[in-house]
Amino acid sequence: MTNSTDPLTLVLVGPMAAGKTSVGRRVARRLGVPFIDTDKRIVAAHGQIPVIFAEHGEGHFRELERLAVADALAEGGVISLGGGAVTDAGTRALLGAHPVVFLTVSPEAVADRIRGAGRPLLESEDPLERWTSIFEARRDWYEEVATATFDTSRRPMQKIADEIVTWRREQR
Ligand code: S3P
Repeated sequence: MTNSTDPLTLVLVGPMAAGKTSVGRRVARRLGVPFIDTDKRIVAAHGQIPVIFAEHGEGHFRELERLAVADALAEGGVISLGGGAVTDAGTRALLGAHPVVFLTVSPEAVADRIRGAGRPLLESEDPLERWTSIFEARRDWYEEVATATFDTSRRPMQKIADEIVTWRREQR
């Protein structure tokens, strides 16, 4: 059984729409370990994220997220976090013991990816401007927790996933 001592556990962090879920799923498949998306876990247990934000506030969401991250790390595998998970000091502390990949992406590349609903923090007249200022505000936290950084702006997700798999195997 996989657990937190599994040498192939890794965590993906980065701004909204950086590709954490699509890259994470591919990395997990290649490594042969489970894939866990903490946003999906929260939705399954507590309902839609915009509703959680509206009814209970962002602070409550961050608590649910911290618990989801702790559970995921205890299980092990490739774990994809929501973009704002690093804003919580408790969540950052949990990440300290694990390899963490920071996925970066340029505003130009992300523009098409952030259309549509489901991200309460991007509900604004200019979602790309919001995305950029949120990313800049969080950049130091991403860098603080990161063990390695990969950019997803241009290359196919599979190629990025392959590079992360190679990097992760070198860490063993
Ligand atoms: C958030 C990012 C979302 C989700 C929630 C809050 C954020 O996840 O956790 O809407 O604060 O950046 P994605 O990064 O998968 O969009």
